[in-house]
Amino acid sequence: MRPVVLSRVVLSQWVRPVYVCNCNGIREREVRAAIDAGAVRPKQVFDRCNAAPQCAKCVCDMRRMIQESEEALRFAAE
Ligand code: FES
Repeated sequence: MRPVVLSRVVLSQWVRPVYVCNCNGIREREVRAAIDAGAVRPKQVFDRCNAAPQCAKCVCDMRRMIQESEEALRFAAE
């Protein structure tokens, strides 16, 4: 089997940023970092990203990510 060589160009095409908040350009990894830093509400995510909600379409996704994080922590604690 031949080894797979990934160049930076190919890798960067794979790892495209996923935006949670299009209005403020907040990426998924930034939301996760805010949650890891203790954000438990979308407002706290916005605050940690130095942004403010505009259309608020992203709030449901942020709530879902917060809830998933809390469930993962609960599961890990069991
Ligand atoms: S998508 Fe986040 S405020 Fe509009």
